[in-house]
Amino acid sequence: MTIIDRYAVFGSPISHSKSPRIHTLFAEQTHQALEYTAQEVNAETFIAAVTEFFAQGGKGLNCTVPLKELAYQFATEKTERAKAAKAVNTLKLQSDGSILGDNTDGIGLVNDLTINHGIELKNKRVLILGAGGATRGIITLLLEQKPDCLIVANRTTEKALQLAIEFNHSFEGCGLDTLHDKAFDLIINATSASLSDELPPLPENLLAEKGVCYDLAYSNTPTAFVRWGQEAQGASKSLDGLGMLVEQAAEAFLLWRGVRPDTKTVIALLNAERQG
Ligand code: ATR
Repeated sequence: MTIIDRYAVFGSPISHSKSPRIHTLFAEQTHQALEYTAQEVNAETFIAAVTEFFAQGGKGLNCTVPLKELAYQFATEKTERAKAAKAVNTLKLQSDGSILGDNTDGIGLVNDLTINHGIELKNKRVLILGAGGATRGIITLLLEQKPDCLIVANRTTEKALQLAIEFNHSFEGCGLDTLHDKAFDLIINATSASLSDELPPLPENLLAEKGVCYDLAYSNTPTAFVRWGQEAQGASKSLDGLGMLVEQAAEAFLLWRGVRPDTKTVIALLNAERQG
């Protein structure tokens, strides 16, 4: 009897997750035999669920909202990018029984921006909106691209200032209310406002000419932030996070299976599906 390697995504809410579809497409494309499911797990049930998953022979997990910090604590070993983010979205059972924690969100975003959309970050002025877990996951990888400046602006100013201290002032933290008179080549929405179709309060003319807007969230219809980029800021591109989702999944797949799937065909398929 062949035993199929088992993988899963844990999170809450999880029913609309595209991860099982993405990993199943990756597995077909790379001729890997595996099963990938989605399981509703919240902060209270996380430890019991993750312990049982690996005890039952599970090989690897993705962890999404609200579990990334808990997954970081659960991992017995961490990659450098996970340590920098203090958050883990990928767990892997290693041959010695230890659990490796990785964070593939930052590389997923950078790959989508630079490879899929041809957007150079070097010497660009970059603004991140929000100072929560999503921001934490992408800062280090964005800084590696050597932008001219990186600013993290948050509704609660203190949280952005604290994050800047934690990252040794490698970027500037500020409040959303101090952004007037500034213009950026790339504005990344890492707030959770899109989840309720809200827009953070933003000044006009925040985007430089030919600038790009990128929402880490994704939706079947354009998010409030994507619409703001298109309609109010005249962005050359106003993108949501579907590409990043597929790219972070590909990095997790690579970590687990040692082979990197082709992401372009999967992104094209998911884009076609959501356009109906
Ligand atoms: P995540 O893990 O998704 O980043 P989080 O850690 O709860 O979630 O952080 C949510 C972020 O979205 C915070 O930066 C939050 O701002 P505050 O720190 O001021 O709460 C931001 N946010 C959520 N809703 C927002 C809104 N309507 N306008 C502006 N910022 C918002």
